[in-house]
Amino acid sequence: MGNIHSYNKDIIILALETSCDETAAAIVKNGTDVLSSVVVSQIDIHSEFGGVVPEIASREHIAACDIVVDKALKEASLQLKDIDFLAVTYGPGLVGALLTGVSFMKALSYSSNKKLIPVNHIHGHIFANFLNDKKPSLPFICLVASGGHSHIVIVNQDLTYKIVGRTVDDAAGEAFDKAARVLGLSYPGGPNLSKLAMNGNPNAIELPNPKLDSPYDFSFSGLKTAFINAVHKLEQNNKIINKDDFAASFEEKVSEILVSKTIKAALDNNLNQLCVAGGVSANRRLREKFEQRCKQENITLYLPNLLYCTDNAAMIGAAAYFEAKKNNFANLNLNAVPNLKI
Ligand code: KG4
Ligand code: ZN
Repeated sequence: MGNIHSYNKDIIILALETSCDETAAAIVKNGTDVLSSVVVSQIDIHSEFGGVVPEIASREHIAACDIVVDKALKEASLQLKDIDFLAVTYGPGLVGALLTGVSFMKALSYSSNKKLIPVNHIHGHIFANFLNDKKPSLPFICLVASGGHSHIVIVNQDLTYKIVGRTVDDAAGEAFDKAARVLGLSYPGGPNLSKLAMNGNPNAIELPNPKLDSPYDFSFSGLKTAFINAVHKLEQNNKIINKDDFAASFEEKVSEILVSKTIKAALDNNLNQLCVAGGVSANRRLREKFEQRCKQENITLYLPNLLYCTDNAAMIGAAAYFEAKKNNFANLNLNAVPNLKI
């Protein structure tokens, strides 16, 4: 298989994602067209434990990898021989979960004699923005907000990444999940909290503004503690907790922090294209706020399709295309890197 630059034909990539609790396979053409996307979620299995149990996640991935790959090929009406390259998430994530996907794809690469592209899960989230009809061009600024990460990143012209801001404690998704748990909502709490928030008053509960040295960094742990204390205070006084109001106030505060810091980073760096990525990018209020503020500031906004906000393999296939362009292929020594950096 030659260099991707020498191809005058479409490049079809089969991607696999197993970094956390979703086993997903997808087939993506030229980094932008999703021919199929299959996601098998383990949420029901983990929710009874209140969070992801790593050992169970690995076992479930082992059982599901070949099923999702077969299904992705069938849904795209393709066979393995029609695939140009294979791609797999090799980090960051749970080591056992990552290893199942990496081992599966290394075996498939060896047996099919197809090159394997190693993909960083966070790059995948960012490249979910290329699966829309309206695509960003380089360079752009991107907020990555997921269960394990909160970063403001500049994606440069040469596809290198510069981190402008990061969380100093919890990730935004983690904060949503913890606040949801205090309200008695099941895992993963973010989407459930957001549903309650639709009927609540976003100004009902006063929450603090975290103080940080860098204007682009995030801190959610103080916010979370203030939220927990406010709930407990009502409980101790046997007062009724209006969960809708609590959910709406928390969602409003977190969204405001994420939006205002990302917009500031875009303006300060003279970037007029802004992307949002990661599971939290599915949040209704966050999307609304970005739309309002980007319009005010004349910044072009890109939001991933709701199908590709949370973990999926189509985004891995999109990022893989750009890695292949950089000639970044793995050999059979590829290992899982649980703490892989952006
Ligand atoms: O990107 P993702 O699927 O997995 C990671 O790579 O971490 O993100 C999952 C996170 C969870 O914390 C989940 O609660 C949050 O994204 N999330 C949301 C929403 N949908 C998913 N948070 C707030 N509102 C949502 N609608
Ligand atoms: Zn993710």
